[in-house]
Amino acid sequence: MHLHKYEKIWMFIGGGSLLGFLIVLGVGAFLQGTQPPSCLTTIDPTNVEAHESFKQENLGLQEMGDKSYVVNVVASAFNYDFGKDEDGAPVKNIRIPAGSKVLFQGTTKDVIHGFQIAGTNANMMLEPGYINTVEVTLDNPGTYTLVCNEYCGTGHHFMTASVEVYEE
Ligand code: CUA
Repeated sequence: MHLHKYEKIWMFIGGGSLLGFLIVLGVGAFLQGTQPPSCLTTIDPTNVEAHESFKQENLGLQEMGDKSYVVNVVASAFNYDFGKDEDGAPVKNIRIPAGSKVLFQGTTKDVIHGFQIAGTNANMMLEPGYINTVEVTLDNPGTYTLVCNEYCGTGHHFMTASVEVYEE
């Protein structure tokens, strides 16, 4: 079979691109641990408090064991509800010791919101009617910005919080 020179070049470019995409996918999935967030658990968006994890007193950081935490969050326009601190003020900063394994578990009462902790692998959608989770190990100390990366209305750009990873 005779192949024209240009045909060979384009086959090479096509095959090379495919290989390139697969390598990017492989590195992301196997080396960096990127994975799609779950979305199989359903919840009544009009009554999220009925769910054990999203009762007001169970929001925010929950210690599950040594260096193991769960963070429960309820999003709504334009706020992340992590519960209240001892003074009754809304928690806007989650403090976690470095090296902890953290399961973020969230839902929303109204529209779709994003949940991305910039600089980490925590990135998921929060959807009305579903409980979404993402698990990450936070090794590097620092203050990370939590942002909503799904346009949710006029206050979308105000929808932020922070996660502080501290050295013990
Ligand atoms: Cu919530 Cu954008």
